[in-house]
Amino acid sequence: INNYEMILVSQNANVGIIQLNRPAALNALCKQLTAEMVDALNKFDSNPNIGAIVLTGNNRAFAAGADIKQMGDRKLTDMLNDDVLDWTVGIRAIRKPIIAAVNGYALGGGCELAMLCDIIYAGEKAVFGQPEINIGTIPGAGGTQRLVKAVGKSKAMEICLSGKINLNAEQAHIAGLVSGVYPADKVVAKAIQTAKLISAQSMPIVALVKNSVNHSFEVPLESGLEYERRLFQLTFGTEDRREGMKAFIEKRKPKFANL
Ligand code: CAA
Repeated sequence: INNYEMILVSQNANVGIIQLNRPAALNALCKQLTAEMVDALNKFDSNPNIGAIVLTGNNRAFAAGADIKQMGDRKLTDMLNDDVLDWTVGIRAIRKPIIAAVNGYALGGGCELAMLCDIIYAGEKAVFGQPEINIGTIPGAGGTQRLVKAVGKSKAMEICLSGKINLNAEQAHIAGLVSGVYPADKVVAKAIQTAKLISAQSMPIVALVKNSVNHSFEVPLESGLEYERRLFQLTFGTEDRREGMKAFIEKRKPKFANL
């Protein structure tokens, strides 16, 4: 894809920025928008000048969920033949960290999209929820799985079962769903600031950290710890590990070569 119609893509130093830009539909995650988003993520992921990615929406909505109008007439066989949630697999394959800067609604697939990112920052007016039950369906992009891990079973049940109870930014912060709350006009800048810190680190080591933290969602503690220890050992095969420790001992800043 070359000419995006539903997202805006830009770069700030070593940070890739993707803004979902379908405001009339509150960034509902239709096929075209999600295809463009995954395409842009892949391009940043393979761009050696990019160290981390910021994903955002607009002041009213990060994303108000999967596109209900696009799904309205679908039958089971339509869903089986054409998976409207295949973008979730695309995002999971991204090796570089993605920071979600959420203003406004992050509902349904929008909340799930935020949770697919690696760090979430919220603007003061952000709203997180899983209202799928109101339209006779259930979260399909990780809501019943990741939300439990983020906020615990009781809150996740309350949110997913009631369809009415959402988390505002402060509640999402207290519950641990988001890492920080900032004024709406500062949240993207904050995400870029953190993304720059990440971009200054060794890229291969950053990818190992992301991979290892995500692994903790998949496996029991014993195998997770074993996996982490092997990755730790693996860092000793990199130039950057050698340089990092040498620089500490020599009391200077490391110069990472991404090797
Ligand atoms: N899909 C398609 N269009 C959507 C949409 C969605 N998820 N959310 C909003 N829109 C559209 C509206 O239809 C409306 O379009 P028109 O102007 O053409 O009528 C436009 O965006 C503006 O929305 P509203 O007029 O409804 O704005 P509001 O401020 O009154 O309400 C809202 C905002 C509470 C977020 C409301 O739009 C809403 O409830 N949206 C749906 C939220 C939802 O149910 N999300 C879950 C979707 S299912 C899902 O995500 C499955 C999954 O797990 C992947």
